[in-house]
Amino acid sequence: MAASVKDVAALAGVSLGTVSNVLNRPERVSTPTRSRVEDAMRTLGFVRNESARQLRVGRSSTVAYVMLDATNPFFTDVARGMEGVAEAAGLSLFLCNSDLRAEREETYLARLEQQRVQGVLITPSDIESPLLTELPLRGTPVVIVDRTLSADTHCAVAVDDELGGRLAIEHLVDLGHERVAFVGGPVQLGQVRDRLHGCRDAWAKAGKDPDRLTVLDTEGLTVAEGSRAAQRIAGTTRSNRPTAAFCANDLLAMGLLQGCLGLGYRVPGDVAIVGYDDIDFAAAAAVPLTSVRQPRRDLGRRAAELLLDETSNPEHRHEQVCFTPELVARASTARR
Ligand code: RIB
Repeated sequence: MAASVKDVAALAGVSLGTVSNVLNRPERVSTPTRSRVEDAMRTLGFVRNESARQLRVGRSSTVAYVMLDATNPFFTDVARGMEGVAEAAGLSLFLCNSDLRAEREETYLARLEQQRVQGVLITPSDIESPLLTELPLRGTPVVIVDRTLSADTHCAVAVDDELGGRLAIEHLVDLGHERVAFVGGPVQLGQVRDRLHGCRDAWAKAGKDPDRLTVLDTEGLTVAEGSRAAQRIAGTTRSNRPTAAFCANDLLAMGLLQGCLGLGYRVPGDVAIVGYDDIDFAAAAAVPLTSVRQPRRDLGRRAAELLLDETSNPEHRHEQVCFTPELVARASTARR
């Protein structure tokens, strides 16, 4: 059986991304590492799958976006930004919903490769999935959306989520809150981890007691999980009850708002609430939500531009683009 890229990476003791760079951008790899990889290729008799590259011309007139949750307007707003760029290039945009399930995500990636799409945009449930590297090696470019990477193995577009977490907490500290809850999860998602990290960083920099920042870890970023968080807040003693909550996205915030109002709490009087994304429903909520705005259309537009450049520009170089979030204050937060 012909040696694969994975075999080469294993024998050379490097990542799939490094093998990809040796094949496509050797100037980015140190001489010793490049020699190790080339020795492994010779030892294994690895033959580059040139046919996959030559067949690019036989590609379908489509690109695809694999999103985490089709019920979350954040992703459909991002997709709208992608769609404009794709249509201007004469391409259609396929939308795929992984529902945060790695096995479904892998099925979509395999099917999209078989369908010979021009390229794939993805907000991955697992940034370490080998398929994210294998597809480009076989000729299907992949751009990561809503997450930046430590290495330049792919183009990636995201928002500075640590700054976003800091903005949310600085706003609540400025309003006089001394006991705050972070509502969000699973922490497997880098976006959630970064928001929490920014939140903790700002709380510490404000000189606040770390024991007065409670983390309510949720199983998902949904309205239902937000509503469940309200029950958990209600279960705390009055002296330990947070007077404000920062939610990892607006769906959680809307669920928390719904749950708090249903339990008879005033928002913001008893519990102030900050969300994240600033989807259109945030401003339309029963108590208009304060939220950390992500430039969703711009994220999608830029990601699609990078993907099309990678499919057509022989001089393409990967880029990591990081947008800046902004806090939008509304009625769900007020001075204590
Ligand atoms: O992509 C993970 C999360 O980040 C999504 O829930 C979306 O709301 C964004 O905020």
